[in-house]
Amino acid sequence: MFGKSDRPDEFKFVPFTPSKSCSSFNCSGSEYNDYLINDALRSQDDHIAFTWLLTERSTGKIAAYMSLVMDAIKLSGAEKELHNLKYPFRTIPAMKIAKLAVDRSFSEKYKGIGTFMIATAERLAIACNTEYCAARFLTVDADIEHDKGVLAFYEKNDFIPNAELYNKNRKTISMRKDLYK
Ligand SMILES: CC(C)(COP(=O)(O)OP(=O)(O)OC[C@H]1O[C@@H](n2cnc3c(N)ncnc32)[C@H](O)[C@@H]1OP(=O)(O)O)[C@@H](O)C(=O)NCCC(=O)NCCS
Repeated sequence: MFGKSDRPDEFKFVPFTPSKSCSSFNCSGSEYNDYLINDALRSQDDHIAFTWLLTERSTGKIAAYMSLVMDAIKLSGAEKELHNLKYPFRTIPAMKIAKLAVDRSFSEKYKGIGTFMIATAERLAIACNTEYCAARFLTVDADIEHDKGVLAFYEKNDFIPNAELYNKNRKTISMRKDLYK
């Protein structure tokens, strides 16, 4: 079982590099497998998305991955009030989880890997805030077209839907998590 804040010794959290074999990665969404295998390194080279891997130390297998990007979200007056943000502008800086997936064989064995990845993204965003660049929120576009359940997954991890991009007909729901609340 993965904790929200600690990492079991048998796993490593490392940047994706060309030397890492990912062809056997298999999560429940085929486009997430394809992205890791065909696009993630190119996106990294082009500075479009930075991909992190959670790998099993003993086998080198990839248990999960996530791709992070910088982001900005537009909040309404009421939303800003909710976060006690007293600024005249609507656009607020954020870090986005552009992709997140857990290999099936690992999610069958361990509960909480997805949650661990989110907690890790949160730690990276807070570290970034401390040293380099501001991000008030962690954001995600919950892919409800692929699996409606991901909304519940992100809600369990304290994300809430953004008013601006919340629309019944959308394939994704834009969500945010306040890093400081
Ligand atoms: C969505 C995903 C990342 C979740 O990872 P995970 O390791 O299974 O999630 P966790 O074990 O941390 O789950 C945390 C909680 O969310 C729930 N949850 C996780 N995935 C869920 C889903 N698809 N539907 C409903 N609930 C879900 C879990 O039951 C658990 O609830 P509990 O705390 O009450 O027991 C993983 O299923 C996955 O890789 N899916 C395919 C790719 C994908 O859809 N990525 C999201 C793109 S936006």
